Amino acid sequence: MAKIGLYRPQQYRPFGLHTVGSLDGGFVLRIGRFPDQVVRVGILLVAAVIAMVLIRERFVPESFGELGHYRADAIPTIESQAIRYAGSLICIDCHDEQGAIKSASYHRTLTCEICHGPSAAHAEDYESQLPVVERDSRTACLPCHQYLPSRPTGFPQIIEQLHNPPQPCIGCHDPHDPTPPEIPGSCAACHAQIARTKSVSHHFQLSCETCHETSPEHLQSPRSFLPKRPTSREFCAGCHGTIADAAPSAPQVDIAAHGDRYLCWQCHYPHFPEG
Ligand code: HEC
Ligand code: HEC
Ligand code: HEC
Ligand code: HEC
Ligand code: HEC
Ligand code: HEC
Ligand code: HEC
Ligand code: HEC
Repeated sequence: MAKIGLYRPQQYRPFGLHTVGSLDGGFVLRIGRFPDQVVRVGILLVAAVIAMVLIRERFVPESFGELGHYRADAIPTIESQAIRYAGSLICIDCHDEQGAIKSASYHRTLTCEICHGPSAAHAEDYESQLPVVERDSRTACLPCHQYLPSRPTGFPQIIEQLHNPPQPCIGCHDPHDPTPPEIPGSCAACHAQIARTKSVSHHFQLSCETCHETSPEHLQSPRSFLPKRPTSREFCAGCHGTIADAAPSAPQVDIAAHGDRYLCWQCHYPHFPEG
């Protein structure tokens, strides 16, 4: 039981009585049995509760709680907003061709408006309101397809800078059915940088296959069927050695002496060799 009373400071204090403040005339207010720290925290707590009640009064909107745990006035506010998205079903009424292509493709789970933007206005009035169509873009597809380590394994991803710059994506991929329709004929379609480097090098007239035995499957599933690479000094020596059937226009070196026993491409970049 708490004992509150006025005592003289010098008066005998039973165990558990504590000073809270002093009054004129030398009397002291004491609250019994509560240690000082509890009393101080208690005062703060009471102040906080009062503050919370006052703040709540001030800030909770008037219509809160009328219909549920939300602001009832929010309903007319939301109702008054214009509808911007029409949903994919209505698009297919008029664009059944695109709808059919897309529904059988890898993009079947995408809505039309994720690429074409909010199109409710177009669905209402297709003559004056046209949706967005990103025809020349290399960036429109990247929010979903740029390589990110956090994407699930197996999700088709590319590194934009390496994947066929600078052509727009739809040059090779139909956006409604993105599987590339044709397998590229040339190595340059995917190895553009190496092809460009080689084309201005001393090896410009050599085809890629001269040095890389490549199976046709590599063009379709590149990572599952990797081409071969040269593995020995003798490979380059076939054209550059001081031997009878070396390539006539190729500068020759004495293989036994030249470059010690290092591989040739530890000193010469094979796609841009310099002497
Ligand atoms: C009532 C029929 C109708 C509906 C519904 C409709 N469209 Fe169209 N849409 C058209 C017509 C007609 C055109 C051709 C307009 C033109 O070329 O002048 C067109 C053109 C387009 C184009 C091409 C614009 C361009 O610049 O070439 C896109 C993209 C398109 N619609 C997307 C959509 C999407 C997405 C939806 C669903 C939200 C949709 N449409 C709903 C009739 C419709
Ligand atoms: C992955 C993004 C993407 C999705 C999803 C998508 N489109 Fe397209 N759409 C495009 C692009 C990019 C073009 C421009 C194609 C071109 O010019 O060759 C286009 C072109 C169009 C055109 C113009 C005619 C044409 O084929 O060139 C229409 C109409 C159209 N889309 C309707 C739709 C409808 C309807 C859907 C949903 C069933 C849809 N699109 C889904 C990206 C998309
Ligand atoms: C909103 C996200 C999104 C956008 C935007 C998008 N894609 Fe896709 N794409 C997907 C999904 C999802 C798949 C299917 C992945 C799967 O099946 O695992 C896919 C699959 C693909 C594939 C793989 C087809 C195959 O044969 O494996 C290609 C290529 C592709 N998209 C190209 C594009 C191109 C080009 C654009 C831009 C016109 C584009 N995507 C825009 C989500 C997107
Ligand atoms: C010059 C033609 C070309 C252009 C341009 C091109 N691609 Fe591709 N893309 C291909 C070919 C061919 C493949 C299939 C071989 C491969 O997987 O590398 C492919 C594969 C893909 C894949 C699937 C990768 C996988 O691992 O399954 C995606 C995603 C993709 N492209 C997206 C894009 C995007 C996004 C752009 C635009 C920034 C783009 N492509 C531009 C030719 C092209
Ligand atoms: C459809 C796209 C594509 C085409 C076309 C293509 N490649 Fe590749 N190539 C790749 C990919 C993807 C890799 C794997 C790169 C990686 O793992 O970093 C690769 C890897 C290679 C490698 C390295 C092999 C290794 O051991 O790491 C060589 C060599 C190569 N390609 C040569 C060629 C040649 C020669 C051609 C033409 C006949 C060609 N590629 C056409 C996509 C392609
Ligand atoms: C003169 C022979 C030669 C020619 C021609 C050649 N390469 Fe190579 N390439 C090599 C050698 C050697 C290596 C191995 C380098 C290494 O292991 O460090 C290599 C490595 C590669 C690699 C994997 C390493 C890298 O640099 O990314 C690719 C991809 C590649 N070549 C593609 C091509 C393509 C595409 C062409 C045609 C445009 C081509 N090469 C023409 C000799 C050649
Ligand atoms: C340790 C580095 C090194 C190695 C390994 C190496 N080279 Fe060289 N190579 C050079 C240097 C440096 C030069 C330029 C100076 C010279 O002519 O000796 C050169 C020059 C050349 C030239 C041009 C000669 C001319 O007359 O213009 C050819 C061809 C050549 N190397 C081929 C090869 C071949 C083939 C191999 C592998 C059997 C090889 N190199 C290995 C460093 C090397
Ligand atoms: C099919 C024959 C052939 C093969 C294989 C070949 N080269 Fe060459 N190489 C040539 C020809 C031809 C030239 C000279 C082209 C010219 O006239 O500029 C040349 C030029 C060079 C040069 C001289 C550049 C200069 O500055 O004069 C070097 C270095 C070289 N090659 C290194 C290599 C290496 C390293 C390999 C092995 C990876 C190799 N070559 C494989 C045909 C070949």
